[in-house]
Amino acid sequence: MNHFTAVILAAGKGTRMKSDRPKVLHEVAGRAMVDHVLTAAEEAGASRRLVVIGFGGERVAAAVEGRAETVVQEEQLGTGHALLVSQAALANFSGTIMVLCGDTPLLRAETLRQFYQEHQASGAQATVLTAILDDPTGYGRIIRDDFGGVCRIVEQKDATDAERAVREVNTGIYCFEAPLVFEVLAGVGSNNAQGEYYLTDVLGDLVARGQSVRAVVVEDTEEMMGINSRGQLAEAEAILKRRVLVALMENGVTVVDPASTFVEPTVVIERDTILYPFTWLGGKTVIGKDCRIGPNTRLTNVQVGEGTEVHFSYAHDCEIGDGVTVGPFAHLRPNTVLADKVKVGNFVEVKNSVIGEGSKLPHLSYIGDTDMGAGVNMGCGTITVNYDGKKKHRTTIEDGAFVGCNANLVAPVTVEKGAYIAAGSTITKNVPAGALGVARAKQSNLEGWVKKRS
Ligand code: UD1
Ligand code: CA
Repeated sequence: MNHFTAVILAAGKGTRMKSDRPKVLHEVAGRAMVDHVLTAAEEAGASRRLVVIGFGGERVAAAVEGRAETVVQEEQLGTGHALLVSQAALANFSGTIMVLCGDTPLLRAETLRQFYQEHQASGAQATVLTAILDDPTGYGRIIRDDFGGVCRIVEQKDATDAERAVREVNTGIYCFEAPLVFEVLAGVGSNNAQGEYYLTDVLGDLVARGQSVRAVVVEDTEEMMGINSRGQLAEAEAILKRRVLVALMENGVTVVDPASTFVEPTVVIERDTILYPFTWLGGKTVIGKDCRIGPNTRLTNVQVGEGTEVHFSYAHDCEIGDGVTVGPFAHLRPNTVLADKVKVGNFVEVKNSVIGEGSKLPHLSYIGDTDMGAGVNMGCGTITVNYDGKKKHRTTIEDGAFVGCNANLVAPVTVEKGAYIAAGSTITKNVPAGALGVARAKQSNLEGWVKKRS
């Protein structure tokens, strides 16, 4: 297991986003960019994590709460200064610090793990992760000596024409050894094109001190993409989306139309499930084998069993069993549990309810705060009246009950085993097992009324 401290630089404003929101809180695949970076660091073995915050710092701190410590950089004087402000928090720390940026959501944990291991194995005082790009514009360039050793990093704005021709760039990810890195950082000045304290200067300074500095070239250049604009945000979204869908397909999931299917990286789907177009799956959603999801379906934090179908529907924070059919046009709200073989049909809303095995809610119902047994049939338009204007109450419908169309069940109320409710009834009292509950005006027919009227 790896053990290192990660420092994530996230104090910058991200001017090019044209946003009131701190850059690292913009979302890719449903999660803040800094969250992706933090997750990669955690998974790579960063046993301690610090995030340097500044612009919109309170919001960033709230986003990483419980997962990282935060240190405040009051004024954004450059990346070198950003690492320097973490020194106090790391005063007694001796070991490897991995520096990351909060705006690189595509980084993989595996890449960081390997990078750290290469740094460890070489015994270098600093290792920089680099990439070779066709178009290196905007990035710091890696300047090597005649023997291929790293000499220093030069920023685009400070580079000569010859240096700008170098295609090997700084990804902004480094491993440093503390406390030496802080000693060197203290001596870094801001005499450069941007008047900033550059973290990149530490590498040249270490070389000047005769310390060993290495570079590791990353293979997948997409991974280190830093997001500076909304255009790049959409590019990252597309890359991450494709990555997730490719992994799903490799594991045996059919994605009918990858262009219109969105699956967040946190979602787990088992083999032979088919995702139809315009489907968005997110959060802690888990879908079993042989399901058909979509078209036009959104599931967030939903557990789905095997062989279940969900069409044109929205469900969040709920559980769906095996062999269930949902939709079209159903809305399943939090704390809903559908047991196996349940059927929830068109224009049905279910909230905070347990629906027993094989029960059917085929059309136009609202079921809220309800405990429903197995084999219940809810007629078209049935409603549980759960709210008296002040409080919510529960409805109980026992096994095998048959509730006729357009019935209102005014909670708290119980329909016992096998009872029937006449269509159009408004039920306010419990209905005993095996009884028929009728609560509607008797019909009378006025013979000949039509003729008399004219
Ligand atoms: C930096 C590197 C450059 C590298 C590039 C990779 C320096 C001097 N340059 O340039 O060599 O190719 O990243 O993407 O380091 N930040 C702070 N406080 C500050 C300044 C920045 O926390 O005072 C944070 C930003 O929020 C961001 C990260 O540091 O997450 C990088 O800053 P940015 O301004 O984007 O650096 P680049 O100019 O892209
Ligand atoms: Ca950047």
